Order: sequence, then structure tokens, then C-alpha cells
Amino acid sequence: MSKSKKSPAFQSPKGMHDVLPQNQLWWDKVRKETKDTAESYNFLRIDTPIVESAALFQRSIGEATDVVEKQMFVFDTKGGDKLTLRPEGTAAIVRAYIQHGLSHLGQPLKLYYDGPMFRYEQPQAGRFRQFNQVGFEIIGGEDDPIYDVQVILPLFRLLESLKIKKLTLHLNTIGCKVCRPNYRKKLQNYYKSKQKEICKDCQKRFAINPLRLLDCTNPICVEIKKGAPGILDDLCSYCQRHFKNFLEYIEELALPYELDPHLVRGLDYYSRTVFEIFTEADSLADPVSDKKQENNKDNRAFNFALASGGRYDYLFEMMGGRVTPAVGGALGVERVIEVMKGLKVNLLPRAKAKVFLINIGDLAKKKSLLLLEEFLKAGIRVTESLGKNSLSAQLRAADKEGVLLALILGQKEAFKESIIVRDMKSGAQEIVPLKKVVAEIKKRI
Ligand code: HAM
Repeated sequence: MSKSKKSPAFQSPKGMHDVLPQNQLWWDKVRKETKDTAESYNFLRIDTPIVESAALFQRSIGEATDVVEKQMFVFDTKGGDKLTLRPEGTAAIVRAYIQHGLSHLGQPLKLYYDGPMFRYEQPQAGRFRQFNQVGFEIIGGEDDPIYDVQVILPLFRLLESLKIKKLTLHLNTIGCKVCRPNYRKKLQNYYKSKQKEICKDCQKRFAINPLRLLDCTNPICVEIKKGAPGILDDLCSYCQRHFKNFLEYIEELALPYELDPHLVRGLDYYSRTVFEIFTEADSLADPVSDKKQENNKDNRAFNFALASGGRYDYLFEMMGGRVTPAVGGALGVERVIEVMKGLKVNLLPRAKAKVFLINIGDLAKKKSLLLLEEFLKAGIRVTESLGKNSLSAQLRAADKEGVLLALILGQKEAFKESIIVRDMKSGAQEIVPLKKVVAEIKKRI
């Protein structure tokens, strides 16, 4: 009878992935480059809880957005609080800034963060229910468009440092309190005759939040959007100047960009500049199996932006704080890693240990623990297999690790406070006093 392969009783939740040891090199690389980039652009690190009050996001991201309406993991605590797994980082950072009066740290304050975010979405390539973001925020100071560029730069350079090429910025402005109402009216006029064609969600958006009509990923709505008016003709003179100056800075830096008059972003807190960063890399790797997937790079409905963000000058007031202009952006780490894998970006493997410690007998095993600590203090990595007892099994393990030297602490050596140093290539052995072995090995490797 053939045994049918049973799937394990427990699996990771849908849309949430384990990062297995063989994939950690990619994550290490992103973490290292994030820290280096943030520090070189003078951003300070901030960490906020993974769970926040649900009301924080309802107020900041907006009730009529997909994130708040459909995608939050909300739960009640035993104490009766309504909390949610955070769907994004910006609102939480604004909350922390107001709560701790961070304006005293200087204006503007440049902050960065990384960590997991949670959205109840239909999982597909590049879209998960738990995903990680790296974000940069510039808070306070003036609403000068130079800050918009200073947020885009570290994101762009970070992607470049991860060897992601053919990057393009998609840029737009969504105006301010003064000019946006006119544009909303124009949009409603455009969509009025199309109300029966657009999806059910968009029919609701039409009345409550017409800008969100431009975010819809339903293929019919995406098609209809193509004829919708852009905002540029309706901008007030202040927003016009702001966007013009912003584009001049982008051009000065020669960053490749396209204007996208329908880019509004899925969160309500934005004003003026909005941006997304795309790559033309034509393959994505599956997050678990590493096999290649089709990247719908030409189909914006799949939203494969690697990074995105914008200005949010009204968010502080909306959350009960003082008027504080701010701008920020975040990149999706899983998406970035999928692209890096698809591009076969070369990573330096973790340096291998050059020394293996072999122990034989109870006394040697006991002494081995302390000896390993001494090597560690001296900055020398030593591998071992202390749970194995036979010499041949441990020698095989040392061979597999490809070390230069094996240290053999047998019964006799442990008793005499000495240790055998074996050259794995030549097989030559010598006895060294235990007290001197760390210094001796330091000389040899
Ligand atoms: P967002 O566009 O919702 O903006 O997300 C930023 C990035 O996170 C996206 O460009 C994408 O790479 C990644 N991302 C979003 N959703 C998913 C998902 N379900 N699976 C995988 N990756 C995803 C924000 O979250 C804003 N807080 C950005 C910001 C910062 N705006 C101002 N400051």
C-alpha cells in the first residue's frame, strides 16, 4: 500500500511566511544596508509596538479606505480595548511623536524604522498578510519640497545598494485643502455617467471619497480610470509651485521619473507630493520556493511598487497634535527580496568558522564550554558538536564544516590541562597547553 503524504497538522497562517535559515542572508543584507543608508542620511531609529489602538488608523488612514474597511486585524482585549495589528508605520510614528513631545529633538526630525505590518489581503505574488516595511519619515520644519526629495533619496539609494536596477519614480501631487475639493468635483463629474459600470466598492467611494476611485484594482475600474481627469490643472498656485520645485530637485539629482496624474495612493492622510518607486526587473521569485513568477509590471492594478509614500501635512492635526508638516515613504522588504532573488543578486556568504572543537569524555565536555567562551571573547568563531561523543563522528562534522584546524580535547588532555591542535589538511598534530591555546590559534588563523 502506498503511503499518502499527509500535510502537517499546523501550517503558518495564510499570507504569512517563515523566514528559513537558508533565506536569512537576504534579510541580513537588507537590514545591514538599511542601517547604513539611514545613518548616512542622518535618520534616527524609532520602534513602535506591533499592536496599536484600532481608532488610530481609522482616524489617520481614513474610514473609506481598503486598509481600514477590509484589511485590519482588529481584536478586543480582555480589558475591553479595541486594538489592531498595525497595517503600516506612519500613523504609529505620528502617535509616538505627539505622545513623547519629540519636537524637542529638533526640527525637522528624521526618523526611520523597520518591522512587520499586517493587512488582511488576498495573498498573491508580492502581496502578503504579514510583510515588512523599511520606512523613512521627515517630521516638522517647513513643508519645503526639499524634504520630499530627502525622503525619496534614501529609499532610492537603499534599493540601488541592494543591486535593484532600472528604478523609476512615479510622481504626482494631490493638492491641498484649498485645491483638492475642485478636483474631487471634477472626478465626480467624470464618474457620474459611469456609476453603473464601476464596482460596488467604487459606487460607495463615489459619494464618500471620490479620490479612492483612482486606487481601485478591479480591472473594469482600472480601464475606466484611464479617461479620468488628472489634478494638475486644478492645483492652487502654492501647490503648483511646490510640485514644480520638487520636480526641479528630482531633475537636479537626475533621478528617473514619470508623472502619473492618477496616482493618489490608498491612504487618506496624504497631501501634495505622492510617489511610488517601481523596477522594471522582469521576474519575481516565490517567497518560499524561490521559483520564478510572472511580474505584472505593466499592470498597475497589481500594485508592485517597491516603495511608496508622500507628504502628510494634515495628519498631526487630525490626530490632535499641532500643525506639523511631514513627509515619508516605506519600502516592502519581501517585494524587494523577491526582486533581488529574481535578479540573482550575489550575496557574500557568512564567513565560515575556521576552527572546530572536539571533546571526548565527561571532563573534556565540561571544560569545552568554558574554552568556547574564551574563544568567543577573543573574537574567534569556533564550531563544535558537543552532543556527539565519538571522535570519528566529530572529525566528520569538522570535515563537513571545512575548517582549517580541529582542537581535540580528550580524556588525557583534559586531565593534563592540554589540547591537541590538528591541521585538517595535512593531518599534523601537536599538543598545546590549554591556557595558551587561544593565543596560539589567534596566531595561526
Ligand atoms: P503603502 O504603499 O501602503 O504605504 O506601503 C508601502 C510599501 O509596502 C509598498 O510600496 C509595498 O512595497 C509594501 N506593501 C504594502 N502592502 C503590502 C503587502 N500586502 N504585501 C507586501 N508588501 C506590501 C504605507 O504603508 C505608508 N505608511 C508609507 C509612508 C510612509 N507614507 C508616508 N510615510
